[in-house]
Amino acid sequence: MASKSANASRLIKSYPIISTQMDSKRLEIILEQLESVLDNAIEGDIVEFGCYEGTTTLFMRRLLEEVSSPKALHAYDSFEGLPAKSIEDASVAGSAFKEGELRVSKRDLLYNFKKANLKPPIIHKKWFNQLQDKDVPDAIAFAFLDGDFFNSIKVSLEIVWPKLSKQGIVVIDDYMRSNLPGATRAVDDFFNDMTIKTKHQNNLAIVQKN
Ligand SMILES: C[S@@+](CC[C@H](N)C(=O)[O-])C[C@H]1O[C@@H](n2cnc3c(N)ncnc32)[C@H](O)[C@@H]1O
Repeated sequence: MASKSANASRLIKSYPIISTQMDSKRLEIILEQLESVLDNAIEGDIVEFGCYEGTTTLFMRRLLEEVSSPKALHAYDSFEGLPAKSIEDASVAGSAFKEGELRVSKRDLLYNFKKANLKPPIIHKKWFNQLQDKDVPDAIAFAFLDGDFFNSIKVSLEIVWPKLSKQGIVVIDDYMRSNLPGATRAVDDFFNDMTIKTKHQNNLAIVQKN
């Protein structure tokens, strides 16, 4: 998988991380994985499931511009905030992460791109389980999944994995994070029966398709 990328660390030093939903360590890992996919000319587009106000999306766009990549960038979100938790999401965090939390508008996301003078992503305002096949590119090179909860991660994996190109990479946030146990359960359940090597680093699960 990816090695250290000079672009990733330089971009992170040069631009602000606009929300507390991402930190520089995880962002660097995500950008390194994305860059390795771009370096290796893996077929397909870039998708983010759970884009919120674009904290990570902005940096993915910057990296695509940096290497003059023509790949499309798709951002998916309900823009209604988090859905209700399921039983798999129960944790010591108790009532933290409430339904409707992290609600921002599509306009907020567009504004952040305008302010940064960057081309906006292709935005899909829908619950993940209401997406149709045509809403998702036929070939995906890189996916960042950040829907926090069991059902959100499960459905995003079900959508993304069949369309992920050979040697494409999916990164899932909140893996092994004790207050969001649903993310770990969804990843473990999904890859349980597959002979796929998953790597875990800084609360990220990183999976490359054989
Ligand atoms: C932690 S935030 C994402 C943070 C973002 N990736 C970043 O780097 O700043 C989680 C987002 O996922 C969205 N989300 C969670 N489950 C969803 C679902 N089932 N369908 C659509 N959006 C969902 C929420 O609306 C929220 O904006």
